[in-house]
Amino acid sequence: MCLAKMRNAAPVIQQLDNPWLTSARVQVSVLRLDLMYPKLSGNKWYKLKYNLQQARTEGKSTLLTFGGAYSNHIYATAAAGKLYGFNTIGIIRGERPLALNPTLQFAEAQGMQLQFVSREDYRAKASAFFTEYLQQKFGSFYQLPEGGTNRLAVKGCSEILPTPLEYDIVCSSVGTGGTLAGLLVQLAGKKQLLGFPALKGGHFLYDEINQLTTDYNNQKYTNYQLITDYHFGGYAKANTELVDFINDFYQKYRIPLDPVYNGKLFYGLFDLIRQEYFPSGTRVLTIHTGGLQGIAGFNERYRNKKVRILEG
Ligand SMILES: Cc1ncc(COP(=O)(O)O)c(C=O)c1O
Repeated sequence: MCLAKMRNAAPVIQQLDNPWLTSARVQVSVLRLDLMYPKLSGNKWYKLKYNLQQARTEGKSTLLTFGGAYSNHIYATAAAGKLYGFNTIGIIRGERPLALNPTLQFAEAQGMQLQFVSREDYRAKASAFFTEYLQQKFGSFYQLPEGGTNRLAVKGCSEILPTPLEYDIVCSSVGTGGTLAGLLVQLAGKKQLLGFPALKGGHFLYDEINQLTTDYNNQKYTNYQLITDYHFGGYAKANTELVDFINDFYQKYRIPLDPVYNGKLFYGLFDLIRQEYFPSGTRVLTIHTGGLQGIAGFNERYRNKKVRILEG
């Protein structure tokens, strides 16, 4: 597919209709990025788009990136490579398992070459020494960081929101902070942004996000807050309360949520509404950042515990 023809389609916005929300007098709408670009859904298209263009400009025919075994970013990079004609290499944390999980099966099926490295080596992935080792092994490549966050990802994410923005508050999940940084750039100091980190101790992300926007346009924004209480024990951790919430949410609104990012985001948002955090009449736009490919792997991991997330 031709990169020059890549364009952002307008995502669907779905308002949640529920007597409980009506009586709370908070309007919640969902920006359904999960419905866009099958295989590159959610925030992934936005994070990758300008990187793919840059790789092509630099004449690179191979994309190399890093991730855990269930990584949405690995999945999306593999899909992007196949779609846009790049070779792809995924440096995966940990030993190669006997049977690949659904994420890695998909990546391999797209043509991604998987290279498993020990957790210790993986920690050194950003070092000059490790980069040299990768270059010797794989030759020339365009390198994307773990999670795909860099300056060009921030640029892509600064195109996520609809304009004009007829909402008071925007909510999004946070991993590395790249998506939130792009949203801040797009908002340019207007409105309010709430970020819900998917990992424990997410307070450090203020520094990361401020650095990302500073690197992008030399601005630090203050119109945002991180809500750090809804990590459920840490990154990719979940409990039955979260799974029940996700399944109930799907049954009510027909919107599937992944357990790593968006399940926690909506759980947190609803909890804040219950605590009357938002003034009456607030219009909230919540970004569904995708990640639904992870549900199959989650269900496989928890099969023995009879925990299952509805996939839609
Ligand atoms: C589905 C999903 N939602 C949210 C995020 C968080 O994005 P970021 O790492 O840019 O903060 C990620 C990670 O990229 C993700 O895969």
